[in-house]
Amino acid sequence: MKSSVWHPNTQMKEWTSFDTISKGKGVWLIDSNGNKIIDAVGSMWCNVWGHSNPQLVKTITKQTKQIQHSSLFNLTNEPAEKLAKNLIKISPGMNKVFYSDNGSSAMEIAIKMALQYWSNIGETKKTQIATLENGYHGDTFGAMSVGYVPEFFGKFKKQLFSTIQFPVPNKYRIPKGFTFLDYQNDCLEKIEKRFSKNNNIAAFIMESGAQMAGGVIIYPKEFQKRISKLCKKYDVLFVLDEIATGFGRLGSMTQYQEQKSIPDIVAYGKMLTGGYMTMAATLANKKIYDSFSGEFYDWKHLFHGHTYTGNPIAAAVANENIHMYEKYNLIKKIKKTSKIFEKFYEEIKEISIVGDIRHKGMLMGIELVSNKKKKIPIHTKKSINKIFFEEGKKQGIYLRTLGNIVMLVPPLSIRENELEMLLTRTVKTIQAAKSKII
Ligand SMILES: Cc1ncc(COP(=O)(O)O)c(C=O)c1O
Repeated sequence: MKSSVWHPNTQMKEWTSFDTISKGKGVWLIDSNGNKIIDAVGSMWCNVWGHSNPQLVKTITKQTKQIQHSSLFNLTNEPAEKLAKNLIKISPGMNKVFYSDNGSSAMEIAIKMALQYWSNIGETKKTQIATLENGYHGDTFGAMSVGYVPEFFGKFKKQLFSTIQFPVPNKYRIPKGFTFLDYQNDCLEKIEKRFSKNNNIAAFIMESGAQMAGGVIIYPKEFQKRISKLCKKYDVLFVLDEIATGFGRLGSMTQYQEQKSIPDIVAYGKMLTGGYMTMAATLANKKIYDSFSGEFYDWKHLFHGHTYTGNPIAAAVANENIHMYEKYNLIKKIKKTSKIFEKFYEEIKEISIVGDIRHKGMLMGIELVSNKKKKIPIHTKKSINKIFFEEGKKQGIYLRTLGNIVMLVPPLSIRENELEMLLTRTVKTIQAAKSKII
């Protein structure tokens, strides 16, 4: 269909028409002509139970008949209260939940909480934010500032607030003269050196477990834990973004528990509602929350609120989603299903344009290179994404690449046979796309 919509991250001149998705069932997206494609990106990394899940649909319908939206300004509602309790239960160390309706906003709130915490306790020097290079936390200005990916945000560089950035160890691209372990230590030493030099850092903000949009960089084992320890040692707030990596994507309910790195503030989004409604949450520990408490004219409270904050339909479906994680033992199932990816490592690696495979839980990033030895990232005139989308469609899969990385981020509950099918088709897609790329 010729589209009147201005599509995200899309060169509209390149895309003259768009397929219309009119239905979804399980892992399948079905277009208006009845063609079925596997949702290999979980509808932008958020789908948990597949499409049109009867339990989730029923929950939404039921809540819609009661109250569709009522504000959290001066009021509360039952689903939002229940969800806050549920979230605190799965998030050790966290004490209160602040709602928003997308991940970028959840990160804006995290930034505000962290900066205002220091002001609330009368510490005026701590105003800087530290981050990792190539992190991604969303597309609003605060989120862009703390998650600077040059290709995405370069046009706005002048308007973004400055942050202190540290390198992140990528096993595939270790600088010359380092072993991987040396390089990790070097990255951590840089952080410690800066922390100890000038104590003006309010918070360290990073994605939990792995960087997603920055290129599927899965952190080495102790990396996140050691940063959290440095934060404690130098009194820097530790803020984690679990929007894309928590809720089972990397194989654990929260990555921060797996990484033994309890944050002061953590954000969830995407899979929070199973991928059915738009909602995100920023959770804070008691220390942060208590600092916002005072007399009205102390002006310590948090000035932030969105129209749809704590929307009851979104909260109700999030509650049902969390209930289903427990009921169907989803995390255990993911750990088992995830092994299917491993069966395909060899076959994928053998393809001449594949430089590296990075996989954890229900996430796989396949990095494409034009020269395996020199690890030169592939560049094409037409976007790689468009080529892969078209070739993927011929194989019956919906793909969206990130630069030169093919992303596999399927619905978390995908069955083993479906994942095998997806991987088989991905191999065929890369092979077919190869001739179009080089
Ligand atoms: C790690 C991370 N944080 C934040 C966001 C922003 O979320 P949203 O797109 O819902 O604003 C994303 C989106 O991809 C993300 O991957």
